[in-house]
Amino acid sequence: MNTSTTSRTASRDGIETLSTPAHASRYTRTAMILHWLIAVLIIVNVVLGLSADALPDDWVRPVIDVHKSIGITVLGLALLRLLWRVSHRPPPLPREFPSWERMAAHVAHFLLYFVMIALPLSGWMHDSAWKAAATHPMHLFGVIPFPRIGFIMNLDPAVKEPLHDRFGALHTYLGYALYALLAMHIGGALKHELFDRHSVIKRMVP
Ligand code: HEM
Ligand code: HEM
Repeated sequence: MNTSTTSRTASRDGIETLSTPAHASRYTRTAMILHWLIAVLIIVNVVLGLSADALPDDWVRPVIDVHKSIGITVLGLALLRLLWRVSHRPPPLPREFPSWERMAAHVAHFLLYFVMIALPLSGWMHDSAWKAAATHPMHLFGVIPFPRIGFIMNLDPAVKEPLHDRFGALHTYLGYALYALLAMHIGGALKHELFDRHSVIKRMVP
Protein backbone atom coordinates (compact mmCIF):
# COMPACT_ATOMS: atom_id res chain seq x y z
CA MET A 1 0.00 0.00 0.00
CA ASN A 2 1.44 3.36 -0.94
CA THR A 3 -1.16 5.57 0.56
CA SER A 4 0.88 7.13 3.33
CA THR A 5 3.40 8.30 0.71
CA THR A 6 0.56 9.49 -1.50
CA SER A 7 -0.96 11.65 1.18
CA ARG A 8 2.41 13.26 1.94
CA THR A 9 3.11 14.13 -1.68
CA ALA A 10 -0.36 15.21 -2.82
CA SER A 11 -1.01 18.91 -2.42
CA ARG A 12 -3.94 19.84 -0.17
CA ASP A 13 -6.39 20.02 -3.08
CA GLY A 14 -5.32 16.61 -4.41
CA ILE A 15 -3.18 17.82 -7.33
CA GLU A 16 0.03 16.03 -8.30
CA THR A 17 3.11 18.05 -7.27
CA LEU A 18 6.67 17.98 -8.64
CA SER A 19 7.75 15.87 -5.69
CA THR A 20 5.11 13.18 -6.31
CA PRO A 21 7.01 9.92 -6.94
CA ALA A 22 5.83 7.67 -9.80
CA HIS A 23 4.49 4.91 -7.51
CA ALA A 24 2.34 7.43 -5.64
CA SER A 25 0.50 8.48 -8.82
CA ARG A 26 -1.22 5.09 -9.21
CA TYR A 27 -4.12 3.47 -7.39
CA THR A 28 -3.28 0.62 -4.98
CA ARG A 29 -3.68 -2.98 -6.14
CA THR A 30 -6.78 -3.38 -3.94
CA ALA A 31 -8.41 -0.33 -5.54
CA MET A 32 -7.59 -1.62 -9.04
CA ILE A 33 -8.95 -5.13 -8.41
CA LEU A 34 -12.16 -3.75 -6.88
CA HIS A 35 -12.57 -1.19 -9.70
CA TRP A 36 -12.31 -3.72 -12.57
CA LEU A 37 -14.23 -6.52 -10.83
CA ILE A 38 -17.16 -4.19 -10.05
CA ALA A 39 -17.03 -2.65 -13.57
CA VAL A 40 -17.27 -6.09 -15.28
CA LEU A 41 -20.04 -7.30 -12.95
CA ILE A 42 -22.09 -4.10 -13.45
CA ILE A 43 -21.79 -4.29 -17.24
CA VAL A 44 -22.79 -8.00 -17.27
CA ASN A 45 -25.75 -7.13 -15.03
CA VAL A 46 -26.94 -4.32 -17.30
CA VAL A 47 -26.91 -6.77 -20.24
CA LEU A 48 -28.82 -9.41 -18.22
CA GLY A 49 -31.35 -6.85 -16.88
CA LEU A 50 -32.05 -5.36 -20.33
CA SER A 51 -32.27 -8.73 -22.11
CA ALA A 52 -34.69 -10.32 -19.59
CA ASP A 53 -37.82 -9.26 -21.51
CA ALA A 54 -36.54 -10.65 -24.81
CA LEU A 55 -35.71 -14.13 -23.48
CA PRO A 56 -37.85 -17.27 -23.90
CA ASP A 57 -40.19 -17.74 -20.90
CA ASP A 58 -38.30 -20.59 -19.24
CA TRP A 59 -35.03 -18.59 -19.33
CA VAL A 60 -36.38 -15.50 -17.60
CA ARG A 61 -36.43 -16.82 -14.02
CA PRO A 62 -32.90 -18.34 -14.01
CA VAL A 63 -31.43 -15.26 -15.73
CA ILE A 64 -33.12 -12.87 -13.28
CA ASP A 65 -31.89 -15.03 -10.37
CA VAL A 66 -28.29 -14.68 -11.66
CA HIS A 67 -28.94 -10.92 -12.15
CA LYS A 68 -30.03 -10.61 -8.50
CA SER A 69 -27.02 -12.64 -7.28
CA ILE A 70 -24.54 -10.52 -9.25
CA GLY A 71 -26.30 -7.35 -8.06
CA ILE A 72 -26.05 -8.32 -4.38
CA THR A 73 -22.36 -9.22 -4.95
CA VAL A 74 -21.82 -5.74 -6.45
CA LEU A 75 -23.52 -4.17 -3.42
CA GLY A 76 -21.08 -5.99 -1.07
CA LEU A 77 -18.01 -5.15 -3.19
CA ALA A 78 -19.10 -1.50 -3.56
CA LEU A 79 -19.42 -1.17 0.24
CA LEU A 80 -15.90 -2.65 0.60
CA ARG A 81 -14.70 -0.19 -2.01
CA LEU A 82 -16.29 2.71 -0.16
CA LEU A 83 -14.42 1.58 2.98
CA TRP A 84 -11.18 1.56 0.96
CA ARG A 85 -12.00 5.04 -0.33
CA VAL A 86 -12.68 6.63 3.07
CA SER A 87 -9.51 5.13 4.52
CA HIS A 88 -7.17 6.00 1.60
CA ARG A 89 -6.45 9.12 -0.38
CA PRO A 90 -6.56 8.43 -4.16
CA PRO A 91 -3.47 9.41 -6.20
CA PRO A 92 -3.45 13.14 -6.97
CA LEU A 93 -4.64 14.18 -10.44
CA PRO A 94 -1.97 15.47 -12.86
CA ARG A 95 -1.36 19.20 -12.40
CA GLU A 96 -1.67 19.83 -16.17
CA PHE A 97 -5.41 19.11 -16.05
CA PRO A 98 -7.53 22.28 -15.91
CA SER A 99 -9.41 22.76 -12.65
CA TRP A 100 -12.85 22.23 -14.31
CA GLU A 101 -11.71 18.77 -15.46
CA ARG A 102 -10.46 17.84 -12.00
CA MET A 103 -13.74 19.06 -10.51
CA ALA A 104 -15.78 17.12 -13.14
CA ALA A 105 -13.78 13.95 -12.34
CA HIS A 106 -14.41 14.34 -8.58
CA VAL A 107 -18.16 14.92 -9.09
CA ALA A 108 -18.46 11.97 -11.53
CA HIS A 109 -16.55 9.67 -9.13
CA PHE A 110 -18.76 10.70 -6.21
CA LEU A 111 -21.91 10.03 -8.29
CA LEU A 112 -20.53 6.69 -9.51
CA TYR A 113 -20.06 5.60 -5.87
CA PHE A 114 -23.64 6.67 -5.18
CA VAL A 115 -25.03 4.71 -8.17
CA MET A 116 -22.88 1.63 -7.40
CA ILE A 117 -24.74 1.37 -4.08
CA ALA A 118 -28.18 2.85 -4.91
CA LEU A 119 -28.71 0.73 -8.05
CA PRO A 120 -28.41 -2.71 -6.42
CA LEU A 121 -30.18 -1.42 -3.31
CA SER A 122 -33.18 -0.28 -5.40
CA GLY A 123 -33.20 -3.71 -7.12
CA TRP A 124 -33.26 -5.42 -3.73
CA MET A 125 -36.11 -3.11 -2.58
CA HIS A 126 -38.03 -3.82 -5.82
CA ASP A 127 -37.55 -7.57 -5.34
CA SER A 128 -38.54 -7.42 -1.65
CA ALA A 129 -41.85 -5.76 -2.64
CA TRP A 130 -42.59 -8.56 -5.16
CA LYS A 131 -45.87 -10.25 -4.20
CA ALA A 132 -44.32 -13.74 -4.59
CA ALA A 133 -41.15 -12.92 -2.59
CA ALA A 134 -42.22 -14.91 0.48
CA THR A 135 -42.88 -18.07 -1.56
CA HIS A 136 -39.72 -17.70 -3.71
CA PRO A 137 -36.78 -17.36 -1.29
CA MET A 138 -33.61 -15.86 -2.76
CA HIS A 139 -30.44 -17.99 -3.02
CA LEU A 140 -27.25 -16.30 -4.23
CA PHE A 141 -26.05 -18.25 -7.29
CA GLY A 142 -28.59 -20.94 -6.35
CA VAL A 143 -26.60 -21.81 -3.20
CA ILE A 144 -26.38 -19.19 -0.43
CA PRO A 145 -29.70 -18.18 1.18
CA PHE A 146 -30.08 -14.38 1.17
CA PRO A 147 -32.86 -12.41 2.91
CA ARG A 148 -35.35 -9.96 1.43
CA ILE A 149 -35.74 -6.60 3.20
CA GLY A 150 -38.14 -7.74 5.94
CA PHE A 151 -40.09 -4.55 6.57
CA ILE A 152 -40.85 -4.18 2.84
CA MET A 153 -41.74 -7.86 2.31
CA ASN A 154 -44.13 -7.81 5.29
CA LEU A 155 -46.12 -4.73 4.18
CA ASP A 156 -49.82 -5.04 3.40
CA PRO A 157 -50.27 -6.24 -0.25
CA ALA A 158 -52.32 -3.12 -1.06
CA VAL A 159 -49.35 -0.92 -0.07
CA LYS A 160 -46.72 -3.28 -1.46
CA GLU A 161 -48.07 -3.58 -5.02
CA PRO A 162 -47.67 0.13 -5.97
CA LEU A 163 -44.32 0.21 -4.12
CA HIS A 164 -43.12 -2.70 -6.29
CA ASP A 165 -43.78 -0.57 -9.41
CA ARG A 166 -42.17 2.54 -7.90
CA PHE A 167 -39.01 0.73 -6.79
CA GLY A 168 -38.87 -0.90 -10.26
CA ALA A 169 -39.07 2.56 -11.88
CA LEU A 170 -36.38 3.85 -9.48
CA HIS A 171 -34.18 0.89 -10.48
CA THR A 172 -34.68 1.75 -14.18
CA TYR A 173 -33.94 5.49 -13.68
CA LEU A 174 -30.80 4.74 -11.67
CA GLY A 175 -29.80 2.57 -14.65
CA TYR A 176 -30.18 5.65 -16.93
CA ALA A 177 -28.03 7.69 -14.51
CA LEU A 178 -25.38 4.94 -14.66
CA TYR A 179 -25.30 5.03 -18.49
CA ALA A 180 -24.86 8.83 -18.51
CA LEU A 181 -22.11 8.72 -15.86
CA LEU A 182 -20.29 5.88 -17.61
CA ALA A 183 -20.38 7.78 -20.92
CA MET A 184 -18.72 10.75 -19.14
CA HIS A 185 -16.30 8.53 -17.23
CA ILE A 186 -15.12 6.45 -20.20
CA GLY A 187 -15.20 9.50 -22.51
CA GLY A 188 -13.01 11.44 -20.06
CA ALA A 189 -10.50 8.58 -19.75
CA LEU A 190 -10.32 8.24 -23.56
CA LYS A 191 -9.92 12.01 -24.03
CA HIS A 192 -6.89 12.03 -21.72
CA GLU A 193 -5.53 8.93 -23.47
CA LEU A 194 -6.02 9.93 -27.11
CA PHE A 195 -6.12 13.75 -27.26
CA ASP A 196 -4.25 15.03 -24.20
CA ARG A 197 -1.69 12.21 -24.45
CA HIS A 198 -1.67 12.01 -20.66
CA SER A 199 -2.89 8.54 -19.69
CA VAL A 200 -5.06 8.15 -16.61
CA ILE A 201 -5.82 4.53 -17.54
CA LYS A 202 -2.26 3.59 -16.48
CA ARG A 203 -3.16 4.81 -12.98
CA MET A 204 -5.88 2.16 -12.81
CA VAL A 205 -4.19 -0.89 -14.44
CA PRO A 206 -1.72 -3.16 -12.61
C1 HEM B 1 -25.09 -4.11 -10.35
C2 HEM B 1 -26.30 -3.95 -9.92
C3 HEM B 1 -27.49 -3.93 -10.84
C4 HEM B 1 -27.62 -3.42 -12.10
C5 HEM B 1 -26.56 -2.69 -12.94
C6 HEM B 1 -28.99 -3.66 -12.52
C7 HEM B 1 -29.51 -3.26 -13.75
C8 HEM B 1 -30.78 -3.57 -14.18
C9 HEM B 1 -31.32 -3.16 -15.44
C10 HEM B 1 -30.61 -2.28 -16.48
C11 HEM B 1 -32.59 -3.66 -15.52
C12 HEM B 1 -33.60 -3.45 -16.67
C13 HEM B 1 -34.46 -2.28 -16.32
C14 HEM B 1 -35.54 -2.02 -17.33
O1 HEM B 1 -35.51 -2.54 -18.44
O2 HEM B 1 -36.46 -1.25 -17.00
C15 HEM B 1 -32.86 -4.39 -14.31
C16 HEM B 1 -34.03 -5.06 -14.02
C17 HEM B 1 -34.25 -5.77 -12.85
N1 HEM B 1 -33.41 -5.88 -11.78
FE1 HEM B 1 -31.54 -5.12 -11.65
N2 HEM B 1 -29.65 -4.33 -11.54
C18 HEM B 1 -28.79 -4.52 -10.48
C19 HEM B 1 -29.06 -5.13 -9.28
C20 HEM B 1 -30.23 -5.78 -8.95
C21 HEM B 1 -30.51 -6.45 -7.69
C22 HEM B 1 -29.55 -6.51 -6.50
C23 HEM B 1 -31.77 -6.98 -7.78
C24 HEM B 1 -32.56 -7.76 -6.76
C25 HEM B 1 -32.06 -8.33 -5.69
C26 HEM B 1 -32.28 -6.64 -9.10
C27 HEM B 1 -33.53 -7.00 -9.57
C28 HEM B 1 -34.02 -6.66 -10.81
C29 HEM B 1 -35.33 -7.08 -11.30
C30 HEM B 1 -36.34 -7.96 -10.54
C31 HEM B 1 -35.48 -6.51 -12.57
C32 HEM B 1 -36.71 -6.63 -13.50
C33 HEM B 1 -36.43 -7.68 -14.53
C34 HEM B 1 -37.65 -7.89 -15.42
O3 HEM B 1 -38.55 -8.56 -14.98
O4 HEM B 1 -37.67 -7.33 -16.54
N3 HEM B 1 -31.33 -5.91 -9.78
N4 HEM B 1 -31.75 -4.32 -13.50
C1 HEM C 1 -19.48 0.27 -14.18
C2 HEM C 1 -18.29 0.63 -14.51
C3 HEM C 1 -17.40 1.58 -13.75
C4 HEM C 1 -17.55 2.19 -12.54
C5 HEM C 1 -18.73 2.06 -11.56
C6 HEM C 1 -16.37 3.00 -12.32
C7 HEM C 1 -16.15 3.79 -11.19
C8 HEM C 1 -15.00 4.50 -10.92
C9 HEM C 1 -14.75 5.32 -9.76
C10 HEM C 1 -15.76 5.57 -8.63
C11 HEM C 1 -13.50 5.82 -9.85
C12 HEM C 1 -12.82 6.77 -8.84
C13 HEM C 1 -11.93 6.03 -7.91
C14 HEM C 1 -11.53 6.94 -6.74
O1 HEM C 1 -10.75 7.87 -6.91
O2 HEM C 1 -12.04 6.68 -5.64
C15 HEM C 1 -12.93 5.32 -11.08
C16 HEM C 1 -11.67 5.60 -11.54
C17 HEM C 1 -11.23 5.27 -12.80
N1 HEM C 1 -11.92 4.56 -13.78
FE1 HEM C 1 -13.71 3.71 -13.59
N2 HEM C 1 -15.53 2.87 -13.39
C18 HEM C 1 -16.13 2.02 -14.29
C19 HEM C 1 -15.66 1.62 -15.54
C20 HEM C 1 -14.51 2.11 -16.10
C21 HEM C 1 -14.07 1.81 -17.45
C22 HEM C 1 -14.82 0.93 -18.46
C23 HEM C 1 -12.91 2.48 -17.63
C24 HEM C 1 -12.09 2.50 -18.91
C25 HEM C 1 -11.84 3.55 -19.56
C26 HEM C 1 -12.58 3.16 -16.37
C27 HEM C 1 -11.46 3.90 -16.11
C28 HEM C 1 -11.13 4.49 -14.92
C29 HEM C 1 -9.89 5.18 -14.66
C30 HEM C 1 -8.75 5.37 -15.65
C31 HEM C 1 -9.94 5.67 -13.34
C32 HEM C 1 -8.88 6.48 -12.60
C33 HEM C 1 -9.17 7.94 -12.80
C34 HEM C 1 -8.04 8.74 -12.20
O3 HEM C 1 -6.98 8.69 -12.77
O4 HEM C 1 -8.26 9.40 -11.18
N3 HEM C 1 -13.60 2.93 -15.47
N4 HEM C 1 -13.87 4.53 -11.73
